[in-house]
Amino acid sequence: SNMELIEDFSRPPLVPVKGIPLIKYFAETIGPLQNLTVWPDDLLISTYPKSGTTWMSEILDMIYQDGQLEKCRRAPIYARVPFLEFKCPGVPSGLESLEETPAPRLLKTHLPLSLLPQSLLDQKIKVIYIARNPKDVVVSYYNFYNMAKLHPDPGTWESFLENFMDGKVSYGSWFQHVKEWWELTHTHPVLYLFYEDMKENPKREIKKVLEFLGRSLHEETVDLIVHHTSFKKMKENPMTNYTTLPSEIMDHGVSPFMRKGTTGDWKNTFTVAQNERFDAHYAKMMKGCNLKKQATFHFLIRVLDM
Ligand SMILES: *[C@@H]1O[C@H](CO)[C@@H](O)[C@H](O)[C@H]1NC(C)=O
Repeated sequence: SNMELIEDFSRPPLVPVKGIPLIKYFAETIGPLQNLTVWPDDLLISTYPKSGTTWMSEILDMIYQDGQLEKCRRAPIYARVPFLEFKCPGVPSGLESLEETPAPRLLKTHLPLSLLPQSLLDQKIKVIYIARNPKDVVVSYYNFYNMAKLHPDPGTWESFLENFMDGKVSYGSWFQHVKEWWELTHTHPVLYLFYEDMKENPKREIKKVLEFLGRSLHEETVDLIVHHTSFKKMKENPMTNYTTLPSEIMDHGVSPFMRKGTTGDWKNTFTVAQNERFDAHYAKMMKGCNLKKQATFHFLIRVLDM
């Protein structure tokens, strides 16, 4: 029965794969995923969770559809942009969605490089990576853990924050993730963007994406994309707000998938002591990473000044 299914897949413990904790069902796909056949015109959207993946996915699908809204309404975002490692009982997996996807394909992943199918790296598939202020990421991740039942119970905010700093959450360490994908920019075609820059000036960032893709669109089309991919529009769009998934998987009554979409919301959750501890940990973990030199956004500048 439906109840048994729910009992079955609700809140299983994370399973480590090569030391990276993953959602149990996602861990099961890492093996089969290594046989992924990539096509030269594939484009990979990569982020640590809660960093603007769905936003960038919708932007890219709109670019690929030349801004034709009705085409972007053809299916939920996870069917238009297959989520490579996604697997969950009763829902098509990422690999199954991929079989239905014509070229040129948009692919999504949150995997660290050590778990990524090697074929993506060997064939130097273009990548768009987004990093976001980790303080906003961890607050968002905590709310997401609460509503997305494939995760274990997050426990208290205090303990979740500790686990996040220690990399003991799904997909492991945020610090490792942003650093290793940054390193990849030196040898691979990676456009490395920041969520904060997208919030500040989405049109400027969409133009960076177009240039990276070697595409051009009419100015009005770019404006339409900016408008249609605003937080408000995406929150009320059933093809992007994830309400098409069963509520046993994502319970929007606990916290909506599209929650706030702002920057600096961490200030409403972190205590002063937690913030100081996080800053010290951040400085230690990011020491020597030249990502800092590139960063134009506030959270890294503060740390640079320390
Ligand atoms: C998702 O979109 C639908 C259709 O616009 C809307 O009725 C619903 O309230 C949205 N859900 C959330 C949780 O934002």
